[in-house]
Amino acid sequence: MVAEIPILNQRSDTVTVPSPFSLLKPNRSFAAPREPERKMQYLLRSCAGIPEAEPLTSGPLWQAEFFALSRAEKFQQLDQLAKKKLLHRCGLNLLREAQLIEMAGSVYTAKMVLLAEEQAQRELYSYFAADEARHLRLITDLIGAPDYQFSKNPFFDYLSLLIQEESRLPLVFVIQVLLEGWGIHHYGNLASASTQPRVTDVFRSILHDEGKHHGSGLILFDESALTEEEFVRCGQALKFFVEIIRIGPVSVAQELAKVASPWCLRTLEAHLRQIDFQGKVRSELELIRSLLKRAKAHRLLAQATQENLFLVPNANAGAEKMMAIFGGQG
Ligand SMILES: [Fe+2]
Ligand SMILES: [Fe+2]
Repeated sequence: MVAEIPILNQRSDTVTVPSPFSLLKPNRSFAAPREPERKMQYLLRSCAGIPEAEPLTSGPLWQAEFFALSRAEKFQQLDQLAKKKLLHRCGLNLLREAQLIEMAGSVYTAKMVLLAEEQAQRELYSYFAADEARHLRLITDLIGAPDYQFSKNPFFDYLSLLIQEESRLPLVFVIQVLLEGWGIHHYGNLASASTQPRVTDVFRSILHDEGKHHGSGLILFDESALTEEEFVRCGQALKFFVEIIRIGPVSVAQELAKVASPWCLRTLEAHLRQIDFQGKVRSELELIRSLLKRAKAHRLLAQATQENLFLVPNANAGAEKMMAIFGGQG
């Protein structure tokens, strides 16, 4: 388990919407689309202004350096074909993750249309909802339908719960300040480092919109307008996401263990040192701190600092947390 998912009680200050992933169907993710689905896909592509394109080629979408694997002993010991396959899977995982985030974004913006406090906000979120639908279509065009199984993890469980149950201002904080602020940085890296121009173009195009979404979050968020209960829930959400950052690149380590020997605490700790786990965690935590400052979330920043959330764990602590997750997944 990454971190305890906070409990959100049913309240009267919000509207409850379905889970962003409620329409995903188990075991149907990669089935060939039926005729009505193909027609719908044509319609969606036409609405989004996306021309039909060839599927991605099978090579790595990002090179080993992007995942810091070029310095990892376990990776260096693989043969060329195994390296290529591993990098391809790690790249696909990044696209699947982005796809589910865009799915979540489309339900989030729909909810914010309903929760808007004035007409201008309702218009703004309607434009953003169209952006998120286009982002989702762009990524789906690259990798096909979303993977139901991939949505089954604590990060997406909590994101889904927040979008379903949370009230307006904490949602602005979590989604537009934190996640979209972090997303601009992440998508920028994906765009500039991808080996495939089509993937670079997709993320550049999404980035342009995410800048507007995050920027409007900075304008709309007002820490002083949070109720005490909302403040507590914002603090819980911040803690949850920071703890995920502090754990480091779990999914790449999991993929590596599938093609090499399984991890034990000692080999995982050595691996985290080789990939400069601390440097990566430090720069991501610094990003979160700067987002809180930009959003003038001074109380939340002070509380998180007091709780030592921005301390960078050493490789041993990181390895222990990761082993607990791997153990939890059997
Ligand atoms: Fe988006
Ligand atoms: Fe967005």
